[in-house]
Amino acid sequence: MNRYSLLSMKDLTKEDILQILDDALLFGTEFKDWQLPCSKALVANLFFEASTRTHYSFESAELQLGCKPADIDVGKSSITKGETLYDTVKVLESIGYDAVVIRHSQDAYYKELENINIPILNAGDGQGDHPTQCLLDLLTMYQEFGTLEGLKVVICGDILHSRVAASDKEALEKMGAEVRFAGPEIWRREGFTPVELDDVIEDADVVMMLRIQKERGSAVDMSDEEYLERYGLNKTRYARMKDTAIIMHPGPINRGVEFDTDLVEAPKSRYFKQIQNGVLVRKAVLKRAFGFAPFTKENA
Ligand code: CP
Repeated sequence: MNRYSLLSMKDLTKEDILQILDDALLFGTEFKDWQLPCSKALVANLFFEASTRTHYSFESAELQLGCKPADIDVGKSSITKGETLYDTVKVLESIGYDAVVIRHSQDAYYKELENINIPILNAGDGQGDHPTQCLLDLLTMYQEFGTLEGLKVVICGDILHSRVAASDKEALEKMGAEVRFAGPEIWRREGFTPVELDDVIEDADVVMMLRIQKERGSAVDMSDEEYLERYGLNKTRYARMKDTAIIMHPGPINRGVEFDTDLVEAPKSRYFKQIQNGVLVRKAVLKRAFGFAPFTKENA
């Protein structure tokens, strides 16, 4: 496996995370126009699951860095003839791609790709990890509070099926934040400390709501209105939050289910900020994948 692959937040140290966040912040300011100083940087985007944010913010990041992105159409590829994931990625490597971004429904699909030499950037694997979503979540909190240490974060919803919950728990705890998990009992997960949202909402710095993932079989026996009332972020809960607290959601949002539609762009909401930050984080991750050291005054 290429040492610059990004597969799971488990693989990054606290220092690695801070370096990526600092690079992402600089991509938003002094290094806005920075491009990879290489004549070719072919990146294959291979998405086996639907995506708007991750897919197209990777593509935007690649174009801004001067890479040449290729959108691999899985439905028109030889995967439809039974070619394996390993053979598909090995073909992309053999025909000259320098990196590959992969989203796949299988947990830890990348374990099959040990013998691939180009960097693999995980854009989400089943219920496993979503490292770039996690990094943009961390960046959004870091921008807001100036640190992650000591932050009180509550993540609410379908914890069981959520790769975002898994990656954010791993990274936030590594960075010294306190993370708790709320939502229906049927979606609790071993090792993820359960709380009632109403018991912690006044003390939380960050309230992150998760989507009900119907495509992964998550369903609750109640109407959308009942879900919002019992477990969602409604106006009553929003009003109980600290003035300095923020609300987040990895998207896409089921408006009126986990999130009152009027709160999506409310003053405490950082939902669209998260999406903007996705491009900065993915630029930082791509720069790292191509072997470039973190920004300093010297390598500007
Ligand atoms: N948050 C997230 O992964 O969204 P997409 O599925 O639209 O990429």
